[in-house]
Amino acid sequence: ATDGQKPSLKVILCSPRGFCAGVVRAIDSVERALALYGAPVYVRHEIVHNRYVVESLKAKGAIFVEELGEIPDTDAPVVFSAHGVPKAVPDDAKSRNFLTFDATCPLVTKVHREAEIHFRRGKEILLIGHAGHPEVVGTLGQLPEGSITLIQTIEDARRYEPKDADNLAYVTQTTLSIDDTAEIADVLRERFPAITIPHKEDICYATTNRQEAVKKVAPLVEAMIVVGAPNSSNSQRLKEVAERSGSKFAALVQRADDIDWAKFGSITSLGVTAGASAPEVLVEEVLDAFAERYHLMVETVAAAEEDVFFPLPRALRPPQAAE
Ligand code: F3S
Repeated sequence: ATDGQKPSLKVILCSPRGFCAGVVRAIDSVERALALYGAPVYVRHEIVHNRYVVESLKAKGAIFVEELGEIPDTDAPVVFSAHGVPKAVPDDAKSRNFLTFDATCPLVTKVHREAEIHFRRGKEILLIGHAGHPEVVGTLGQLPEGSITLIQTIEDARRYEPKDADNLAYVTQTTLSIDDTAEIADVLRERFPAITIPHKEDICYATTNRQEAVKKVAPLVEAMIVVGAPNSSNSQRLKEVAERSGSKFAALVQRADDIDWAKFGSITSLGVTAGASAPEVLVEEVLDAFAERYHLMVETVAAAEEDVFFPLPRALRPPQAAE
């Protein structure tokens, strides 16, 4: 069926997509700090990797900085982003008497704690992750410099020479590719059978479920759109998973304006997902842009149900919920 001159386009929405519980909690933490203390509220690093979210919070009085050194002496609250921070950051904040709120996702904190436990037990620790990502910087910074070795690739895993192969442990970044990480972990386990592995997967439920949904949808469509930011690790992984799972091409777009229409020309089917830091309103914006050019028939394919909720940092909870 066509709608006037418009060609038909079957759209399959991936479920779940978009915001995870850690992102909701981080954004709510800034909103709540603004409500309780008024503007400005300082936020160290993009609270979550999404420009739209950051701009919206800026408009309400949040000021984003990369390092605490950029903040003047102030009584205003300082919020740490969902990605977590090296230990030196809260130490520094304390020495400057800042009022701080930590919006680090509890699932990132869990990885920090694991690394600490391994360290206390005298283990040699590996971190599977991507150099330079703020979560990796934060996890490395939980322990004295040099305590954790970063493993970024399967080659790194093949080449790593431990001091004592019987005394190794690894942890991972929360937003990695499930499949790539499994391959790297397999190499480590094969080479070092005694290695201590994470109790429960470090890659978080949201990353896992969004990748699973893309794996279901990508083989059914000609193209995939991932709504998300180029610096968002889990969004980048969704694009890779889509490309590997059978859609002819996949595009990562922040907003409708980023869509390269020439690439989508004659498609008849499209899969849509969104990274864990991308608000649903941006998915709607992208769908509206497609609806201007195509007659859309929209359906949803689900890979998992999610009901995860993380309460706000205690000091930011509304009184009745604070206990
Ligand atoms: Fe946390 Fe995973 Fe979201 S680590 S911030 S729930 S992507």
